[in-house]
Amino acid sequence: MIYLDNAATTFPKPPEVPEAVKDFMINYGGNPGRGGHELSRLAGDIVYSCREELAGLFNIDNPERIVFTKNATEALNTAINGVVGEGDEILISAMEHNSVLRPAVAREQAGAVLKIIPADKDGRITPEAVKIMITHRTKLVCVTHASNVTGTVNDIAAINELVHSHGALTLFDAAQTAGLLAIDAADFDMFAFAGHKGLYGPFGTGGLYVREGISLRPLTYGGTGSVSESALMPDIFPDRLEAGTVNAAGIAGLLEGVKFVKRQAPGDHEKETAKKLAEKIGGIRSAEIMGDNGVNVVGIRLRGVDCVDAASTLDSEYGIASRGGLHCSPLAHRSMGTIGGGMLRLSTGAFTTEADIDAAAKALEDILR
Ligand SMILES: Cc1ncc(COP(=O)(O)O)c(C=O)c1O
Repeated sequence: MIYLDNAATTFPKPPEVPEAVKDFMINYGGNPGRGGHELSRLAGDIVYSCREELAGLFNIDNPERIVFTKNATEALNTAINGVVGEGDEILISAMEHNSVLRPAVAREQAGAVLKIIPADKDGRITPEAVKIMITHRTKLVCVTHASNVTGTVNDIAAINELVHSHGALTLFDAAQTAGLLAIDAADFDMFAFAGHKGLYGPFGTGGLYVREGISLRPLTYGGTGSVSESALMPDIFPDRLEAGTVNAAGIAGLLEGVKFVKRQAPGDHEKETAKKLAEKIGGIRSAEIMGDNGVNVVGIRLRGVDCVDAASTLDSEYGIASRGGLHCSPLAHRSMGTIGGGMLRLSTGAFTTEADIDAAAKALEDILR
């Protein structure tokens, strides 16, 4: 199997990641933050170490402002539901994944005003486009750091500055960039990340960074191991947004994933291999590269072949894992003019080789011929 579906989840993981999960389950499996005994303390230390490693990676001063969630979707829902109330205006970009579109539409149904910021021809969201849409009523602006369909990267620092100058809050979706692109969160309000993609952690891990001074309405209510005498959720972070036991075994694996990322030049190999793949495929008749592959994603429009069929043939005839269709992002495909047929997406990882790229380009050429 040649695995080129790393934008869905990275595979394989570095061996130390599953090892750490197993080690945790055998040797440290107390409930973190829920008891004073040794196993609980050891588990708590591992969870905290992971917060610290992530804080270092994202230039966040206080690791406790990182809230663990089960994936990027839960983090995005936490932020959107926590900020946007009835009558508030929320802006999302036209390149967002359904994990932003659906909670935003749910807020609209509950009385918020939803507006969509258009993308340019490469699927990029410019600060100018945000400026045209933002008003004094805007409460939250949500933009993806990089598209999961085209890999196009947005200048989130410039968008952050623009949004702040209008007095609104920002939420960036770093599901496709955390671990692959440098993220300096010092000036951001909130950003969401997945643990199982570019951070090479296990499923069931992700997180939300919330800047000091912002307090969200929790998405989930329950035990936190702190302020147990109160019937209200604590104000302190991360407890306020972390009701219930965290996925500590998964977080033990994520800790190793983050250390792995830090040992490499983060994302360089993934970006380089994606660029090479895009170059090779760009030379094939009937294949058009969409957007500008700023991360590990190569989005391809096919002429004359259905892209879901192409993905299926790549799998069954050539042993190549890819993804065809709409990639949970109908807004993005509408922006790129591919809502009808979708695209074929190939995405590289830390273990993708030159031989994998050559084989994938050759297989696609065969199929299109
Ligand atoms: C841009 C983007 N946002 C959010 C998500 C959701 O991530 P998760 O499956 O970890 O919830 C994805 C997943 O592919 C994504 O690509």
